[in-house]
Amino acid sequence: MADLERTFVAVKPDGVQRGLVGEVISRFERRGLKLVGLKLLNVTPALAEKHYGEHKGKPFYEGLVSFITSGPVVAMVWEGRNAISLCRNVIGATNPASAAPGTIRGDLAVEIGRNLVHGSDGPESAVREVSIFFHDGELVQGWKRETDTWICE
Ligand code: RTP
Ligand code: MG
Repeated sequence: MADLERTFVAVKPDGVQRGLVGEVISRFERRGLKLVGLKLLNVTPALAEKHYGEHKGKPFYEGLVSFITSGPVVAMVWEGRNAISLCRNVIGATNPASAAPGTIRGDLAVEIGRNLVHGSDGPESAVREVSIFFHDGELVQGWKRETDTWICE
């Protein structure tokens, strides 16, 4: 499948604290994406810096690192045709105040510093972020899902 992609998605500490892990996972499942990696972990300051390094120096950076390290996150890898943009669409705009209804942020969040979910923003960041959070052996490679033929032609 030429356009098969993998993307990194995480439920941030606010989503875990608010008991929204199941709700978030279920939205990606129902959309038709396939789960290939999943774990609960604490993000260390070093890991946060690796993950959010592109934002270093911005006014919100310190707050972002302190937030992402404040409690466990659920790290996931989702696979599917155009999985990267599909997941970004399921998540919604960065600022929940302007996120469309029907998206995770548009339905369940109210402000930018507590926007529940992270999703890779392109092919390079997807590869980079998956490799930051998962070893190859932790991903389930090529498992056959019986519903695949009912989701994609
Ligand atoms: P994410 O990386 O978390 O999926 O979010 P995103 O791509 O939609 O947004 P991005 O620009 O990558 O920003 C990363 C996270 O930083 C926080 N942020 N705060 N106060 C602000 O102006 C501001 N801007 C960004 C948000 O938590 C955002 O998700
Ligand atoms: Mg981003």
